[in-house]
Parts: sequence; structure tokens; C-alpha cells
Amino acid sequence: MAAVRDFSEELADEASLSPDEATDLAKRHLVQPWPFAGFIGTEARSFIGSGDGIYITDGQGRRLIDGPAGMWCVNVGHRREELASVMYEQAMALSYNTPWYTMSEPSAVLAQRIAGHAPGDLDHVFFTTGGSSAVETALRFMQFYNNVRGRPEKKLILSRGGAYHGSTYLSASLNGRPRDHDWMDGVDGLVVKLSSPNPFRRPDGMSVAAFADFLVAEFTATVEQLGADRIGAFVGEPVQASGGVIVPPDGYLKRIRQICRDNDILYISDEVVTAFGRLGEVFASGDVFGIEPDMITFAKGVTSGYFPLGGVVISARILEQLRRSNHANAMFGHGYTYTSHPIGCAVALKNLDLLEGGVLDHTRKVAPYFQAQLKTLEELQLVGEVRGAGLMACIECVADRESLDPLQLDKDVGKRIDQHCHELGLLVRPLINMCVMSPPLIITEAQIDDMVGILREGISRTMDDLRREGVWRG
Ligand SMILES: Cc1ncc(COP(=O)(O)O)c(C=O)c1O
Repeated sequence: MAAVRDFSEELADEASLSPDEATDLAKRHLVQPWPFAGFIGTEARSFIGSGDGIYITDGQGRRLIDGPAGMWCVNVGHRREELASVMYEQAMALSYNTPWYTMSEPSAVLAQRIAGHAPGDLDHVFFTTGGSSAVETALRFMQFYNNVRGRPEKKLILSRGGAYHGSTYLSASLNGRPRDHDWMDGVDGLVVKLSSPNPFRRPDGMSVAAFADFLVAEFTATVEQLGADRIGAFVGEPVQASGGVIVPPDGYLKRIRQICRDNDILYISDEVVTAFGRLGEVFASGDVFGIEPDMITFAKGVTSGYFPLGGVVISARILEQLRRSNHANAMFGHGYTYTSHPIGCAVALKNLDLLEGGVLDHTRKVAPYFQAQLKTLEELQLVGEVRGAGLMACIECVADRESLDPLQLDKDVGKRIDQHCHELGLLVRPLINMCVMSPPLIITEAQIDDMVGILREGISRTMDDLRREGVWRG
């Protein structure tokens, strides 16, 4: 037998770790996502021990509002007994089956239920393991589709600044936020980036309507310049989430959709964040923005984060075109061991019951209050804009409201706000000079008041710190 390395001196009793001991172990053995080189493999991130409803509890036993709902995913809230028991029951009935040549009931029923909510003719689902693998699947599917249709040169992908589509090689190549490509490679020559549809950062003196015209003209010019016969897909989040909750100008998505249709470019709507209730509907593409994409990618909220699952909803027309091609033997050589995982599909079905059974209605009801209360934070001088849709919002800080300087003095002002809010009982998602809020959809008006009160205090304390340090004159 191979020798096992003995780390036993690191812990007295592994069965009952204190938060500090767990943190210490993580510092020795855990590589956490999105680390900086100088701290990689040694980080002490906030320990979270438990969750209940909209709350989580940290290593000091402090109860915090889960402001980002995990990573935009714990939509129906923590500790839902219904979801826990369905996972247990499914594991006892069938824990796994190979999707290569078998199929389970939960996967078929879930595909049908999801198709029932999708817009247009999107009536088939390919399940994946999360959001990146969903986007990767949609893109590889576009490549396969064009190969089979005898158009191997039609593969370019249009993406936008401010986008986040994942952490696999091809999906990450589409990302367009600051820092995304500073130290990370991407595929060469396949992806073309367009402007972010961010009205807050539109050119000086331009109206929002003129900005929408500008974005559409840029899209049209790009298609003309590259040639429609070389462009396979456009990939866009209906609301750019990790880019800072960027809600596009009215009508923009519909106009882009039409250009794609006119040029036989597949429109892939990345709803990894916006689907399953974040905007009050199962899918936002059709029900909120009035568009019928060719494919929709989803993940996160499909299981409220209880199990890793994602997928792509695909148009019937596209599948029909493949079936009618002259290449019946061409194989879409793509799939994951955990594609159509029965436990993931079973928990997603129960999660969908909860969403349909009241959580979506509640979200639609509470969302205007959520947006209005957060908007009051614009009274604070550090806050340049509060924007959002449904139960997702972003507080963007600026050094100077006139020039809208995105806080050159301290790009990590979001982290400062997060630290203060953490002490006050709220977990925030800091993003450079922004704080993103996307709480569990079950949040009540009273809990929204708590959240906004803490944010107000956390931002005020941050302003005091910046003034005291002499780095901000606001
Ligand atoms: C819009 C969007 N697409 C894709 C992804 C990637 O999903 P995952 O982290 O599950 O791979 C994310 C993750 O935040 C996302 O926000």
C-alpha cells in the first residue's frame, strides 16, 4: 500500500473542528477560487457554519443576512426541509445512472417542466453540471450545428464588455470585465467583444435612447465587417450580473435578437443568474424582455444551490435542422458524467414546485420595494448609482459624482463596505468599486429594511474611513 502522508499533528480531533481549526486547515490544504498569486493556498476566508432562511452564521456565531444568496443561487433560502428530503429520497431510490446509455425519470420530467416555462419553440433541455458547463455546451453545440450544416467557417462568437460567462476555457474567453484577462489566457481569434450595454457609463451627453441606437449600430457594423457567414453566435446575459447588474436600455435586446435572426446568428441568452426567479419569472428572456432566443443557459437557481446542476434549453427548430441534415451519423461528442444527474433533477423539480407555489409571486411583489429602498442609498455621497431589476441590484461607488470616476483612489472600496456590513450583520458581494445584492427570494419587506439599514451604516463608516485616511474629499 502506498504511504499516506500523516497530517495528524495539525488537529486534535477532526470530528469536531472549531471554525478557527477549519480555517487553519483550509490555509494549509485548500486552494480557493479566484485567489491572488501572493496568497494562493494560504487564504483564511470567512468561515460559514450554517444557514437558515435568508441567514447564514459565521465562525463567531454572528447571524448575517445572505446578501448575495450564496452566489446568486440560494433562491428559495437555506435549510429547506423539502429539498433536503427529496435529495435523500432520490439517493435511496437511485443515486446515479449513466446518461451515456440510460435515462432516469426525474431528468425527463424536469426537461418537460423546464420546457413548459421556456419562450418560443425552446422545448428540449441538455443538463450540465453548472453555468460554465452550460455555456460551454451551448457554444460547442453551435460549432457542431454549423459543422453539420456545412458551414465550418461560421464559428465566431460575439460577446460584450462587462460579461461573465464562466470559468472553463471557452466560456471564460467570452468574459469582459476588468481584470478578467490580465493574467489569464483565452482562445485566440474566436471571440469578438462589443460594448457593454451599461447606460450609467454611456458616452457623455448621450441620451439612453441614443445609447441604445449606438449599441445596435455597433452590432450591425460588426456583423457587416466580419461577415454574417463567419459569425456563429451572440452570447449575452439579459442583465449583466457579475459585471455590476447592468440592465440594458429598453428595446435593445429585442433589436439585437432581430439582427441575429436576420443573419442566421444563434442567439444564446445566458440566464445562469436571471432564470429561476431572480427577476420574478422562471425565464426572463421571454417573460421580462420579450425575446425568443435560440438557446437559454441556466444553472444556480435551478436547484437553489442545493446540488450542482445547469443546462441549456434548445430550440426545436435547430434540432429539427440537425435531424434533417445529410449527416445522420455526425455525433455531438459532448456530455458529462453528471449530465442529467437524478439527484440534481429531483431537487430541481421540488425547487420548481416551491417557485411556482408562491416564491415567484412573492418575488414580483417584493421586488419594487427592494429596488426603491436600495435607491435611497443614492443620498450618500460615495454612491454614484443604485440600479437593478427584480431581486438583484448594484450599488456603484464613485469618487466624484461629476466625473463619475469609478473610485481610482481605492478600487476595492466594495471590500471595505463588505467588512463593515459583515460586522453589522450582512454579507455583501463586493466587486471592485461596487456592491452587489441578490438575497434569497423569500426575503420580506422588514428584512429588506434591515438590509438597507446595514448598508447605509456600512457605507457611511466607509466614507468616514476614507476621509480620515485623507484619500477622499467627499
Ligand atoms: C451569467 C453567468 N454565466 C455563467 C456563469 C458560470 O456559472 P458556474 O460558476 O456555475 O460555472 C456565471 C457564474 O456566476 C454567471 O453569472
